[in-house]
Amino acid sequence: MASTRENFSSRIGFILAAAGSAVGIGNLVGFPVNAAKNGGGAFLIMYALFVFLICLPVMIAEMAVGRKTAKEPVGAYKSLSHNSGFWGAAGFLGVLTPFMIAVFYMVITVWVFGYIVITVSGNLDYLASGAGFGEFINSPYLFVAMIAVAGIVNFILVAGVKDGIEKAAKILMPSLLIMLVIMVVFVLTLDNAFAGIEFFLVPDFSKITPSVINGALSQAFFSLSLGMGILLTYGSYINRQTNIPNSAKLVAITDTGVAFIAGLMILPAVFSFNPDVNTSELSDSSVSLIFTFLPKIFLALQSSIGYFGASAVATFFFVLVFFAAITSLVSIIEVPVSYLVTEKNHSRKKALLILTLTAGVLTLFATTSFGMVPFFTEFTEYAGANKSFFDVIYDVFYDTILPLNGFLLCVFVSYRWKKKQLSEELSVGNEGYIGSWVEKYINFSLGTFIPVIVLAIFINTVAIKFF
Ligand code: PHE
Repeated sequence: MASTRENFSSRIGFILAAAGSAVGIGNLVGFPVNAAKNGGGAFLIMYALFVFLICLPVMIAEMAVGRKTAKEPVGAYKSLSHNSGFWGAAGFLGVLTPFMIAVFYMVITVWVFGYIVITVSGNLDYLASGAGFGEFINSPYLFVAMIAVAGIVNFILVAGVKDGIEKAAKILMPSLLIMLVIMVVFVLTLDNAFAGIEFFLVPDFSKITPSVINGALSQAFFSLSLGMGILLTYGSYINRQTNIPNSAKLVAITDTGVAFIAGLMILPAVFSFNPDVNTSELSDSSVSLIFTFLPKIFLALQSSIGYFGASAVATFFFVLVFFAAITSLVSIIEVPVSYLVTEKNHSRKKALLILTLTAGVLTLFATTSFGMVPFFTEFTEYAGANKSFFDVIYDVFYDTILPLNGFLLCVFVSYRWKKKQLSEELSVGNEGYIGSWVEKYINFSLGTFIPVIVLAIFINTVAIKFF
């Protein structure tokens, strides 16, 4: 019942919550590393085109399906397809995906929390020592951190959409933006900072290969929280005065802007630490950048600002990342919460309890798959390598499945729900939409090249990761 469903109190509240979901670890570290390694400015141009020409229509469609039905993915797909089993299954994938990503994201967020505790207690040098991280990810204290993070997420979600999600976003997002700007200003005062900026921005078109293109689109999908059912679910909490295309545009601009600014923070820091940095040192994964490389950079600051100052900067940075991670985590868990509430008629409290227990157990398995428990550490094998339980979740759900969900959504809105209905929904709160070039572009792209491209990305990613 749309009338009993809680809504965001304002358009800005919705935009901040959606941007809070989109802005996460992917922006703060994933994007800068990707951009710097893969052609700098050339990557940025390509990424921006992907965001606005491919991802934005998908985001708009997700929000429209959500608002139209006032449901989460399963209920939404079912109700607009007259209970088709196939589309019900597609919706289920749209709930399973966020559930599993939540597990993997939770592990990382717990680490970030642990890093805050360690830097605040004056042990930055421990994290910066090569052995620190290896020891840290096997520490039993992580279970305490896990309970703390789960507590914070539950505290926000149990308060509901308006008093929980929206309120948290209204506090955390502006704080995050201010902290980010402070960090950038600070980092730019370091020696060699501008070598980092140059590295980040000067275009090198020779680096743009098919795999970089593939990676850029995957990164954009992940960063904008697409294919996770999140924007559909958040869309189900907006009122009928909200202009969806405009709101989505603001979310995309905020997300991309933060990613860009994060580049201005990370790369100057990297170059100031070591002006002759070899890009392979940035390593393949943003995980190792944030957890092993950055602590070294922070520690190196002690020669200019002392050990205490360096620890303070490190703490400040990890708090920033933590804020970004919490608003993302909240958004992703809201999808299965909404599913249990809407489809299974549980109370919000009970839904949260069920999810905390089930996702908690899986998070426990994932946390112990870095050596603590051999069974999870050597969980399986594919693509010629041993894979832990964490790796499997990461490989299947992190970016692989998102384009598939995006593909299903495009096909659904274009050929099942139909474009005319999509246009009608998007014209609500948006006079002059029907007949505009925006409408024409959205309808055309969602029915033609976007599904083809995202399906190709899905197939290619599967080939790269599993064979
Ligand atoms: N957009 C987030 C990021 O860039 C991705 C994400 C959203 C992950 C929500 C989990 C939950 O980090």
